[in-house]
Amino acid sequence: MWRRVASFSPFISSTKSSILSQLVPTMKIWESFTTEAPIPVNHGISSKDSTPFITFVLGGPGSGKGTQCAKIVDTYGFKHLSAGDLLRREIARNSEYGSTILDTIKEGRIVPSEVTVRLIRREMELSDNHKFLIDGFPRSEENRISFERIIGAEPNIVLFFDCPEEEMVKRVLNRNQGRVDDNIDTIKKRLKVFEALNLPVVNHYAKKGKLHKIWAVGAEDEIFEQVRPAFAGCEQVISES
Ligand code: C5P
Ligand code: MG
Repeated sequence: MWRRVASFSPFISSTKSSILSQLVPTMKIWESFTTEAPIPVNHGISSKDSTPFITFVLGGPGSGKGTQCAKIVDTYGFKHLSAGDLLRREIARNSEYGSTILDTIKEGRIVPSEVTVRLIRREMELSDNHKFLIDGFPRSEENRISFERIIGAEPNIVLFFDCPEEEMVKRVLNRNQGRVDDNIDTIKKRLKVFEALNLPVVNHYAKKGKLHKIWAVGAEDEIFEQVRPAFAGCEQVISES
């Protein structure tokens, strides 16, 4: 069964708040999101027959998350949910929040967690799959805590693709996917945000024994060989459909 997490420590400590206030957009910009009623913990997902099996995928821009997710999907049959793709889809469909999300992505900042978690939750509810690979999430402690609060669940496994900065920059500049944020100025901002906000998330899951750190340099198949052991011991759960 999904476990609802009852209480949380504050996600912004006083020492970190000044850095975070520079990196995370002020909630004023996002009034349209926050004026809505609080999202109740969802019972649609938790009442599905199978208990969801959740894998979070962490890593900087260009660390190879998407490439490895495709291999995980092929091998283990997960439903892949890329937080970045879900946000870009909101921009493409010109939703009422699309232009604000676009501005945030162009600046390499983090979209307020409630927005991103709401998009993830909708996809989880719509899916028949019970295995979810949530890519590019959580990007911050705020993301992590919002997921626990709104979805009422924690990940079973967390993968962290660890990649040197020069390698990430090289890959992003070479990938040519037409993204508004794959330019050197935005990449620098994204890396700064990543450095400031990712480590606490990594440490949190390391302490819980859920983190699998993967050295994300080398051939795709070699990297995937480091991914496989993370799912060892879960085969029975993840082979159920
Ligand atoms: O993961 P990806 O590189 O596709 O993310 C692109 C951008 O989407 C990030 O730089 C950030 O602006 C936004 N994003 C976010 N919150 C997430 C994931 C992505 O705000 N959890
Ligand atoms: Mg991606």
